[in-house]
Amino acid sequence: MQFIMAEDYEELSRRAANLIAAQIWMKPDCVLGLATGSTPVGVYRRLVTLYRKGELDFSAVTTVNLDEYQGLPAEHKQSYAYFMHQQLFDLVNLRPDHTHLPDGMNPETEEECADYEALIQSLGGQDLQLLGLGHNGHIGFNEPSDRFCPYTHAVQLTERTIRANRRFFDPEETFPGWAYTMGIGTILRSRKILLIVSGTEKADILRQVLYGPVTPQVPGSILQLHPDVTVVADSAACACW
Ligand code: F6R
Repeated sequence: MQFIMAEDYEELSRRAANLIAAQIWMKPDCVLGLATGSTPVGVYRRLVTLYRKGELDFSAVTTVNLDEYQGLPAEHKQSYAYFMHQQLFDLVNLRPDHTHLPDGMNPETEEECADYEALIQSLGGQDLQLLGLGHNGHIGFNEPSDRFCPYTHAVQLTERTIRANRRFFDPEETFPGWAYTMGIGTILRSRKILLIVSGTEKADILRQVLYGPVTPQVPGSILQLHPDVTVVADSAACACW
């Protein structure tokens, strides 16, 4: 595991974006696993800047996202599909048919999970998977549990995750209680993993992920077993070490 401590969020975003850019330079037709949430916003901003400067070409890149809320259409402002279009897809030269997320509107749960998993396999798996870290240690929406889930599945979101993500929804909106997510196995099969963590409120869980026991109660702790993980954390996220 490689660890990069960035001074602040700006440096974190720049360092992480540079690693993703390097992946695209090394393999222009790579498969990128992408994440949503507040942490990667600066990374996507930086990737868009590199693209606009003519330093990055997404024309042969394929993307697969970690997760999507169940019951939200892609046009819904809080769907992860909408987020990705706003933050990256519509701002660079990614081909629309090269971007993939689980279909939150497919009510056939088993079919959707099997199809998404098969899609990732058919693409040859992720060359690099970008991850954020939940306050409870989740990666993707793999919530604390008594087992690591190997494949894409539907998951009921925990109170902690709902509390963290509710802020993005209008107060009168119903928050989706369930989501589709890549499994821990789907994530671990990526050839490289890039975990980005920002802010003091993640410091304790980041310490558990990196140095605690490997346990499904702290899903991110499984990353200790992956052979090629880079963690980029800002100094705030390392506050309690
Ligand atoms: C998002 C995802 C989640 C987030 C995590 C951190 O696609 O899979 O695991 O990465 O909840 O979210 P932020 O960055 O908003 O703190």
